[in-house]
Amino acid sequence: MDKTDSLKHIAIIMDGNGRWAKERDLPRSEGHSAGARRVIDIMESMRKHGISYVTLYAFSTENWKRSQEEVSFLMDLLAQFLDENQQKLKENKIRLLVTGRMEELPEFCVERLNKVIQSTSEDYQYTLILALNYGGRQEITDAVRKIGNKIKAGEIDPDSISEQTVADHLYLPGIPDPDLMIRTSGEERISNFLLWQLSYAEFYFTDIYWPDFDDAELDKAINTYYKRNRRFGGRP
Ligand code: IPE
Ligand code: IPE
Ligand code: MG
Repeated sequence: MDKTDSLKHIAIIMDGNGRWAKERDLPRSEGHSAGARRVIDIMESMRKHGISYVTLYAFSTENWKRSQEEVSFLMDLLAQFLDENQQKLKENKIRLLVTGRMEELPEFCVERLNKVIQSTSEDYQYTLILALNYGGRQEITDAVRKIGNKIKAGEIDPDSISEQTVADHLYLPGIPDPDLMIRTSGEERISNFLLWQLSYAEFYFTDIYWPDFDDAELDKAINTYYKRNRRFGGRP
């Protein structure tokens, strides 16, 4: 691969926390805690590999279907993660961004997220994007609504709508599309993740559960990526 195919953005569906815990006779919550520790390692791997953007699927719009106990554990874990890692993000020059309907998360999470987003927004080299209350269809639906309102207000001419117009109305306009999408735990589906942005991403699936996905596993994924031949519809 030449430089134009360099790896700028990795998106990860962090799956398998529950099964990891089950294999160890532990409650699902232990799997989620172990999974959160992996996120810290990923922050270090970003620097090592010089990857500018990492998007992590942490909570989908469908995950509200889980038990109230599990949902509230995940929200507490998010708050704890932010409290414990705000400083580390700053030190490592990583800014935090969120994609998803963040405002529908519990107040104590929104407050902390805004605080960390704010405090890491300057002097950064890397970007960590947490997909929280995120759904790809919801993101596209929200973009259509925003564009519709602008048409109504006379700010957009419907005949001028291009792919760029749609991209500009997604949750995080200006972030380059992921080059590589990794899903752990053996499931091979997209589960409503980044439907628009993944249109030409390389997919990498591994049976490893997320709490076991360490730097060596990430190396494997990255090496596989560099062996792929990205054609984008053209000829090599
Ligand atoms: C991924 O692990 C974490 C979230 C979806 C929040 P799961 O909780 O989906 O783990 P499995 O799929 O049950 O093993
Ligand atoms: C996808 O995992 C969402 C996250 C990792 C946050 P799920 O475990 O929720 O996905 P399905 O239900 O297996 O498709
Ligand atoms: Mg799962």
